[in-house]
Amino acid sequence: MYEFLTGYMFWLSIGICLIGLLVRFVLYFKGLSWQLDRVAYKEYPALGLKGAASSIIRWLIPFGTYGWRKQPFMTVIFFGFHIGAVLVPIFLLAHNMFLKEKIGFSLFTLNPTLADILTWAVVVSAVLFVIRRIALPEVRILTTAYDYFILLLSAAPFITGLIARYQVGDYTFWLTVHIFCGEVLLIAIPFTKLSHIALFFASRAQLGMDYGIKRGGAKGKGMAW
Ligand code: HEM
Ligand code: HEM
Repeated sequence: MYEFLTGYMFWLSIGICLIGLLVRFVLYFKGLSWQLDRVAYKEYPALGLKGAASSIIRWLIPFGTYGWRKQPFMTVIFFGFHIGAVLVPIFLLAHNMFLKEKIGFSLFTLNPTLADILTWAVVVSAVLFVIRRIALPEVRILTTAYDYFILLLSAAPFITGLIARYQVGDYTFWLTVHIFCGEVLLIAIPFTKLSHIALFFASRAQLGMDYGIKRGGAKGKGMAW
């Protein structure tokens, strides 16, 4: 099982994730209305790019937008979860040792104590996400079993990664479970709402361009929209 997961399945899961995200990203822009959106964006590329960059950057800064400031509890859980969820899988020492062995290439690595702290932050924040979905009526009404499933899928590699790391129980068993959960997550990303990893940038860029051109930047300059 370990050989299969770290061999063939490793490449397949990484491949599905990256190619799938690229396809979702391209389809997002292809799906925009060409009259309403694409024409205006192509006409004013500089204003559009400025609006897109500003919208993406603001949303990536804690409390950077009105939306983040309005919901401080959500903002703290969101960043507590996402900083680790993005950095740990890419920059964990153990992952880069694995990559080095596999393809002879590794990236900058995180200090192991910091990696532990960020991983715990992901797990605790995932629990708080669940509590938020149960406790707040305005979120509960929008929540279905699918949302809990996505949270479980996202948290599983972090929980099993910690179990392997602290060597609770049989190390090889938990490491294999960890890699399995990691690969299931990678494969699920392009097909579920986890595709937001790429689509967040697509939709923020679109809205940023909209505000930069049609609803602000080019206003009063004789444009038709
Ligand atoms: C795709 C194949 C993957 C392989 C081969 C792999 C391999 C490993 C290995 C060898 C460890 C070290 C266990 C130890 O300390 O002895 C580890 C830990 C960990 N992995 Fe993975 N992993 C994979 C996917 C993922 C994914 C997709 C995620 C998250 C989305 C993830 C998150 C973690 C975390 C959070 C830890 C523990 C961090 C800590 O030390 O506190 N892994 N992984
Ligand atoms: C650059 C990468 C990423 C960006 C920009 C991003 C952005 C976002 C945004 C904007 C939300 C919505 C927050 C809201 O409801 O207001 C969200 C939710 C979520 N993200 Fe990400 N994300 C990224 C990576 C990831 C990764 C790698 C994972 C999983 C390992 C993940 C798992 C989740 C989950 C589970 C939720 C829903 C939380 C809930 O139940 O409310 N995200 N993300």
